[in-house]
Amino acid sequence: MPVPLNPRVAEALNRQVNNELKAGHVYLAMSAYFDAQELPGFAAWFRAHSGEEIGHAMRIYDYLVKRDARVELTAIDQPRKDHATPEAAIAAALAMETEVTGQINELFDLAHESKEYGTQPLMHWFLEEQVNEEDLFRRLLDQVKAAADNRWHLLVLDRELAGRGGS
Ligand SMILES: [Fe+2]
Ligand SMILES: [Fe+2]
Repeated sequence: MPVPLNPRVAEALNRQVNNELKAGHVYLAMSAYFDAQELPGFAAWFRAHSGEEIGHAMRIYDYLVKRDARVELTAIDQPRKDHATPEAAIAAALAMETEVTGQINELFDLAHESKEYGTQPLMHWFLEEQVNEEDLFRRLLDQVKAAADNRWHLLVLDRELAGRGGS
């Protein structure tokens, strides 16, 4: 018999599947917001990044399946439709990434406490990913702040983001 996944860890991983799906939902809503602002480069970037978050959810989903644990999806809160400014939207995205880092840290603690050694490499991947994500959004926020309310600078940044995919 394979070693069963610790039920508390399974529950926490399930919660994280839903947290990552929520992030994907939030970023897709931001993509729609940027489309409405006529900033298609930002919109494309957030759309691609939304896809990355779905990828994160599926990474944990596949792990649960592999460990013979049950995947359970929950309802996702309605994401915010509008933001005061593009800068406010990016600041909200960075705040969400910081929140996700906290979630991953807690998951890592739980995997450690419950001696879930098999889960730890997955958590290492996510810890490293969150360092990159926070860096990515912090740099994007700096760039948008530098553009301030200057529409021309925002359009230059928009052109740059159009060619970058979601990272
Ligand atoms: Fe994520
Ligand atoms: Fe993320």
